[in-house]
Amino acid sequence: MQGKLYANDLFSVGKIDHRINSALAEHMGRSIYEGIYDPKNKLSDDAGMRLDVIDAVKELDVPMIRYPGGNFVSTYRWEDGIGPKDQRPQRVDLAWQSIETNQFGLDEFMDWLPKVNSSAMIAVNLGTRGIEEACNLLEYCNLDTDTYWANLRRQNGHDKPYGVKTWCLGNEMDAEWQFGHKSAHEYGQLVNETAKAMKALDPSIETVVCGSSNEHMPEFGKWETAVLQECYENVDYISMHQYYDAPEQGTMHHVAKSIRMDKFIDSVVALADAAKATQKSDKTLNISFDEWNVWYHSNEADEHNEPWQQAPHLLEDVYDFQDALLVGSSLITLLKHVDRVKIACFAQLVNVIAPILTDETGLIKQTIFTPLADVSKYGYGETLLTNASSDTYHVAEFGDVPYLDAVIVKNNADQYTVFAVNRHQTESLTLDIGLNAGDKLTNITQRSYTCDDPHLTNTKEQVIPVTVKEDLHEVTLPAFSWNVIQFQTFA
Ligand code: AHR
Repeated sequence: MQGKLYANDLFSVGKIDHRINSALAEHMGRSIYEGIYDPKNKLSDDAGMRLDVIDAVKELDVPMIRYPGGNFVSTYRWEDGIGPKDQRPQRVDLAWQSIETNQFGLDEFMDWLPKVNSSAMIAVNLGTRGIEEACNLLEYCNLDTDTYWANLRRQNGHDKPYGVKTWCLGNEMDAEWQFGHKSAHEYGQLVNETAKAMKALDPSIETVVCGSSNEHMPEFGKWETAVLQECYENVDYISMHQYYDAPEQGTMHHVAKSIRMDKFIDSVVALADAAKATQKSDKTLNISFDEWNVWYHSNEADEHNEPWQQAPHLLEDVYDFQDALLVGSSLITLLKHVDRVKIACFAQLVNVIAPILTDETGLIKQTIFTPLADVSKYGYGETLLTNASSDTYHVAEFGDVPYLDAVIVKNNADQYTVFAVNRHQTESLTLDIGLNAGDKLTNITQRSYTCDDPHLTNTKEQVIPVTVKEDLHEVTLPAFSWNVIQFQTFA
């Protein structure tokens, strides 16, 4: 099969914000406890942080980590997680019906971040709490004043403010499952007042307002419109969340589901721009796609979960190769929308629907780890408007789907990277790459990640390999593969 890929330096979608490679680390399941923080394990450092997890997160190169939730945040009292550990209360976590020991909290998280070369995106509880608690938390994190919460941070051993820039104002507040769920009008007003107060405390911060929990929410569209009517000028991003379901209609349908993400982004951009127009605003609202992934493998096991356990096995999806291709195509989709998507958080980071899965003896880098690490490492610079064409196949939900899914990124003056998926399960695809109407390609290297079994998973013993080829004259994408192609050009 043949495929064509054309772009021109003159037509840029926009600069790539590295924060599209961010992730969520929620207090739930074994994400924090036994994942990031495992003090009794000999694989952990003196602070109780798993060293193998630190290495794997560094390899993923995650610039920002959203914390502490997720649904967890909507009943969380952040003060429970600071100060002497023996005085921290053990609490019930309503969202996941678990026990929260509070042995890991804000200060432990902030101490861990430099170990993984990352930064914080903090969510405040706008479910059961409000403006005052959000401002207290911001003061604790960011202020250098001689005042109660800033002094408490100092007393807890952190003299310098943390300088957290990005703040999520609640989580999935449109959803009935959210404790403290609100109407759009009520939530929009609360966001406006909270953002106003927080920005008065620290004008350098940016705020994220909750959009719909997914595109199938009954109020999707109406929610965004009503919320933004209340708070448009005080927020900087609107959030999007999306999880892909089980491949009930087969592999070829599954690997095309990134089309849902593409349509969803276009819809939210349209809603944000309509709000801009009706508010007669000069400000453009960008997108924080702060939860996305495949999530279905663990559904059945989670139905048997017993409540009120500490660090239960929850949402421990074991990903297969077809999930990895869907994650790869979703990353291509995010890259194609960098004009508006400035933040995206893979959900989640460790153990809970995650690329990193631990047990007491070590960890597995799941199949989805490879495309995530590749885009974070090679997806810098700007996205070029890319015209891709190939043969297509038909699925009921999407119509004609091209086998080739690809984007060209210009890394710098003389370096380009193509990210490409060949969705065909048995045929390879020879790729004709045309840049600037006639530039020649040189120093072509290709990393290919392929597997003829869509259901294969990684284990400790067996990891699906990546093949690297250098000095190529022609690019061929193997059947059913994720590829990173790098090259330079000359006229
Ligand atoms: O990531 C798991 C959960 O999915 C999050 O807590 C919530 O925000 C979403 O519904």
